Parts: sequence; structure tokens; C-alpha cells
Amino acid sequence: MTRLQINEVAPRDGLQIEAEFVPTAAKVALIDALSVTGLARIEATSFTSPKAIPNLSDAEEVVRAIKRHPGVAVTVLVPNLRGCERALACGVDEINLVMSASDSHGLANLRMRPEQSLVRFADIVAATRGSGVFVNASLSTSFGCPFEGEVPELRVLGLVERLLELGVEGVTLCDTTGMANPAQVGRLCETVVKRWPETPFTLHFHNTRGMGLANALAAWQAGIVRFDASLGGLGGCPYAPGATGNVCTEDLVHMFAQMGVDTGVDLDALLAVSATLPQLVGHETSGQVVKAGKSDRRYPMPARQET
Ligand code: COA
Ligand code: ZN
Repeated sequence: MTRLQINEVAPRDGLQIEAEFVPTAAKVALIDALSVTGLARIEATSFTSPKAIPNLSDAEEVVRAIKRHPGVAVTVLVPNLRGCERALACGVDEINLVMSASDSHGLANLRMRPEQSLVRFADIVAATRGSGVFVNASLSTSFGCPFEGEVPELRVLGLVERLLELGVEGVTLCDTTGMANPAQVGRLCETVVKRWPETPFTLHFHNTRGMGLANALAAWQAGIVRFDASLGGLGGCPYAPGATGNVCTEDLVHMFAQMGVDTGVDLDALLAVSATLPQLVGHETSGQVVKAGKSDRRYPMPARQET
């Protein structure tokens, strides 16, 4: 059975929407702690406009300060050529281009329609040539848009095709505001896996309507082995109304571990890092397993009551 590849997005998708700026040193400590838990990759930050995403305005400092570990790819979100140049200057392993599948979310989030993003991506792919940096692209609102509603599957497939023609090497299908359901996810995943069997597809779910894990399971059953997830279920796009946290990494890892699916992640180590989040972000997280314990947790029987 193929080992899953978990991409931890809490330092980016998680921290971008927090009410308080997390100090740079604390971000670095979080990423360093996550880097020794067996995760395949960590999305460390984003090289976006500091006006658009003030919480991640310390992107260069973070990437330069973190300890690098063989086998853990450092990836960063990039919306335009300027972001790409900043990322390359810091020596990242991967860049994750971001665009929307829907016009409205593209305009709200990036001030670009999908067509405009694609034009810019051509220059970005050219800029990365020869750098050895892996180029992934994330397609926001692939399963529905909070402004427009349904995003037709054919539109998503057409955009994937255009991205691959441009030279993008991997594609992440994102359910930005938790609108996807498992039947829809299964259909789209089966289609992309069949049509582009050599392309690494990643699925990115938000648990906004409680369907995150069910969607991940449906994607896995359709042949997907790469997942974005966020420690403690932190996360959300500040430019998507109603956005809430990603599918929670430790809950996802726990589910697959219980099913006998190898994620490469040391769940106890991951839970220990998750337990530090409330202090870091100043509030409880939505993680379930960190509170309930793993399903092999046992309790002593209550003391016998004499009658
Ligand atoms: N890094 C740093 N600064 C950047 C930048 C980048 N990648 N891209 C643009 N800027 C700066 C420009 O220098 C300019 O600064 P100024 O006002 O001081 O002159 C300002 O941002 C606006 O630049 P412009 O090219 O007009 O961009 P824009 O205002 O159309 O914004 C984006 C476009 C993509 C840069 C911006 O919308 C963005 O960063 N969005 C990120 C959204 C995001 O990450 N959402 C959550 C993840 S899904
Ligand atoms: Zn997201």
C-alpha cells in the first residue's frame, strides 16, 4: 500500500487567518518541531503582499531560520512572480502557486481572474527553470465558491489541463470553504487520477461543514495519496467569507493509522506539538484526538458502588 504524503499547512493556511501575529521565533519553533514528526512536507509561509496577509509578512526570516531536514520538503505559497523571486532567493524546495477556479474568489483573494493567474504562471514557471524547485499549483474553490456556488467539474478539469501545459508539476485541488461532499470528491479524484496518472495530485480540505475527514477518505479511495492538513485544524482564507479551519492533521493521521494506512508520521510526536498550539495562538483548537486521546486510550472502570 502506498505511503501517504502529508503536507502540513498550519504555518501558512493556519497562521494567515489568526487574529494575532505569531512572533517569528515562535513560527520557526513550530516548523522545527513539525519537521521531526515524519511529515513529507511543510508549507512554511506565503510570499504574498504583506498588506494582503500581514500575519506572514516575515516570510523570508522564517524560511531562512528554520532547520532543514532531509526528506522534509519546504514549500511556500506564491501568488505572483514577485513572490516566486522572493521564495527562490530563500532556497525553498517547492513553490505552491495559488489561483482560484472561480472568477469571484480569484478577484476577492488575488485581484485576478483564473485567466490572469494563468498568464502570470507562465512567467513564474520560466523563472523557476533550472532551479530544481518543484512547482505545484493550488486551485482554490475547486469544489464550490462561496460567492458563485457550484464550480463545474469541466471548468476545474480545463484549468488543470492548462496548468500542466504550462509546466506545473503537481496540482492541489482545494475545497476552500468546506463545500465539497464525499460523492463529489470521489468523482473528481477518480477522473483526474485516470486522466493524468503520472501527475501528483494533492487534496486540500477544510472542515467547515464537518465533511473534511469523509472527503479525505473518499479521495484516498479514489487513489489520492497526498493530502494537505493543518495541525489543530487551524486555518482559513481571509478572503473567503465563512472560511474556517483545514482538516486537522493529527485527526487525519489518526484515522488513517487506525485503518492500517501508513502516513510516515509519528502520531504521538505530532500530538505533542498540537498540544502546544493553544498557547501559541491564544485559543483552543478544533482537534479532536488531542483532546480525546487516540482510540486505544483506556480508562479505569469506575469504583464499584456498594448497594
Ligand atoms: N510580495 C510582496 N509584496 C507584493 C507581492 C509579493 N508577492 N506582490 C505584490 N506586492 C506588493 C506590491 O509591491 C505593492 O506594494 P505597494 O502598495 O507598497 O506599492 C502591493 O503589494 C500591490 O501590488 P499589486 O501588484 O498591485 O498587487 P495587488 O494589489 O493586485 O495584489 C496580490 C495581488 C496577489 C499580491 C495580493 O492580492 C496577495 O498577496 N494576495 C494573497 C492572498 C492570499 O494569500 N490569500 C490566502 C491564501 S489562499
Ligand atoms: Zn486552505
